Amino acid sequence: MINVPKGTKDCLPEESYKWQFVEEKIRKITRNFGVKEIRTPTFEHTEVFTHGVGDTTDIVNKEMYTFLDKGNRSITLKPEGTASIARSFIENGMKNYAMPVKMYYITPCFRYERPQAGRLREFHQFGVEVYGSKEASIDAECIILAKNFLDELGVKVKLLINSIGCKECRKAFNDALKNYLESQLEGMCPTCKDRFSRNPLRILDCKESGCKEIIKNAPSILDYLCKDCSTHFEALKEYLSLAKVEYEIDDKIVRGLDYYTKTVFEFVSDSIGAQGTVCGGGRYDGLIADLGGNDISGVGFAMGIERLLLVMENIGVEIERTDKVKFYLLGIGEEESKKAFELAINLRANGVSTEIDHMNRSVKAQFKYADKINAEFVGVIGSDELANGVVSVKEMATGKEQKVKIENLLEYLL
Ligand code: HAM
Repeated sequence: MINVPKGTKDCLPEESYKWQFVEEKIRKITRNFGVKEIRTPTFEHTEVFTHGVGDTTDIVNKEMYTFLDKGNRSITLKPEGTASIARSFIENGMKNYAMPVKMYYITPCFRYERPQAGRLREFHQFGVEVYGSKEASIDAECIILAKNFLDELGVKVKLLINSIGCKECRKAFNDALKNYLESQLEGMCPTCKDRFSRNPLRILDCKESGCKEIIKNAPSILDYLCKDCSTHFEALKEYLSLAKVEYEIDDKIVRGLDYYTKTVFEFVSDSIGAQGTVCGGGRYDGLIADLGGNDISGVGFAMGIERLLLVMENIGVEIERTDKVKFYLLGIGEEESKKAFELAINLRANGVSTEIDHMNRSVKAQFKYADKINAEFVGVIGSDELANGVVSVKEMATGKEQKVKIENLLEYLL
């Protein structure tokens, strides 16, 4: 037997209604915030991510699915959405669009990680990216959109916010951090030893217990913010308060991607264990320029749909089934079955989901099948019904039975 590759999953017919439910909520909330959908390719030239996400990140260093195509080009399956959207923004001259440009996406992502609950090698992100505004109000709006969406799904989360400043304030902070860490390098993991010279900020994100202990007393980035960055952070907090969105400040949140500046945030759930971050995002004012575009700022977030569904399942959120069949119609005998076939065509064309037999099942087996697929109504055409131009219709929930004239059937079912 051939199985799916490790870390990937089928979405089976019996569970796809859950995805559709989440996707419909995404379309609804983004419409409310004036955010339009963008779709970009599943793979990109590798530089999009090495330049975009950054070459000191785990994503770029360890996790990308990169290969040479038959034309000897280095291609990478998207490990995330942001860098691709930034590439598309530049390539399609979106700087000439009315600003801010607000976009959302639902996309497969690929990361070669160790699979566990809530962590896959192929997963799907719902993300939002907004370009062209430096105002903290737009950072707040992204956070509020994500929060409203999670509320709609019934997912309870904690919002953690931080500011990691701009290039300028980070220089002073990196010096202070290195100063603090220098004497403790011995106790740190090999990855952090490497990070020490390449990107010390990333050490704050380490999950190794030794490093975590050392980081506890590290200096806080918030004490090193320049005036512009600290004003921005204060404004963000004010907007969140105006929106009555509760938050905690966590100065250890630095995120695992290199493009962030100023605002960073995460929504965390405590119901799925280690992989509790359902949503992460922040501001990235240098990304478009780093990828060869103009000096245009950006802010956004992404959440993992599989992780969201896992949280919803663990906390017992009921998702209404939208894949129910309204009507199962069966004919007893050849002519009656043909009539059922004909009526089904008309009913479906008029918006009533209808199923008929294609398995040559007995009447009893057909009733059983109708029950199994949860049909709301079951109709029978026997010889009497055929002769009198009626269908015997049973409403399954109440058991109520009625003979309905064929010309009235559509109206009855609607
Ligand atoms: P990220 O934190 O790497 O950020 O991923 C965002 C979300 O994707 C995570 O919070 C998680 O829910 C989900 N996720 C990440 N890796 C996996 C995985 N292996 N399996 C399942 N779910 C996963 C970004 O990707 C940024 N592009 C977010 C962003 C958008 N920042 C600004 N705009």
